[in-house]
Amino acid sequence: MESPFKAEILKGKVALITGGGSGIGFEISAQFGKHGASIAIMGRRKQVLDSAVSAFRSLGIPAVGFVGDVRKQEDAKRVVDSTFNHFGRLDILVNAAAGNFLVSAEDLSPNGFRTVMDIDSVGTFTMCHEALKYLKKGGPGRGSSGGGIILSISATLHYTAAWYQIHVSAAKAAVDATTRNLALEWGTDYDIRVNGIAPGPIGDTPGMSKLVPDEINSKAREYMPLYKLGEKWDIAMTALYLVSDAGKYVNGTTIAVDGGLWLSRPRH
Ligand code: HXC
Repeated sequence: MESPFKAEILKGKVALITGGGSGIGFEISAQFGKHGASIAIMGRRKQVLDSAVSAFRSLGIPAVGFVGDVRKQEDAKRVVDSTFNHFGRLDILVNAAAGNFLVSAEDLSPNGFRTVMDIDSVGTFTMCHEALKYLKKGGPGRGSSGGGIILSISATLHYTAAWYQIHVSAAKAAVDATTRNLALEWGTDYDIRVNGIAPGPIGDTPGMSKLVPDEINSKAREYMPLYKLGEKWDIAMTALYLVSDAGKYVNGTTIAVDGGLWLSRPRH
């Protein structure tokens, strides 16, 4: 679908997207690029990064990939620094890297719980922490422009409760808290806007194929009045709104982009 935004709304901006090689992160990267931004993506798998970077470049988007794991502070620092060294500035950090699997609380080991907390929650904070020096007002490469922007991909699981996803629910609740607290501290001190997006079920993503087996998907359609799948495009358009000037007064919020699904109740 064509974008409703003008093609130059992110002209001159540099964005670093964790998990930008696949799924929702890939689509956000592609759309940022199509709207004028230069793109750095970070992920653990070199091949995935390489093929994403060639896809972006074939669209004429300046793009680079850096292998790294958001769980490692030295990787986070190296990738943030490399992005700055490559493009000369950093304006937007998108935390889209995530880990997930379905498992009952009873069968989940504390290390399994910790692993997802490490990727989603601690990883998000670590990336924000390492990017701060470039994002803050007056930081290297910023010139007279104000502070940069942080966007974290969350979920709606923890608004209620979610079967077999206690680890992700806890991790995304921490991401939302981090979004609000950084918006307060860094919005006040450094003119940085910090927001989130909580996608519902989005078609053609690793999350969907891993977490929502086909039989659950068709059952949900039956019982949930508002159930419909979103597209990666829906998330990318919300991301564009939040990081562009259209969102300049939005700070500390996480927008649910789920077609209203989390409000759904069975008819009676
Ligand atoms: C139970 C599991 C498990 C499973 C791993 N563990 N998979 N437990 N069921 N299916 C446990 C392991 O037993 C181990 O604990 C601990 O978790 C660490 O496992 P590792 O395999 O060593 O971890 P690692 O290789 O680092 O892999 C991380 C991962 C993996 C999260 C487990 O799935 C991953 O890398 N995923 C990234 C890609 C991904 O998941 N994308 C989808 C995102 S979708 P023990 O105790 O045995 O040592 C998404 C949507 C959220 O996030 C919102 C949905 C609406």
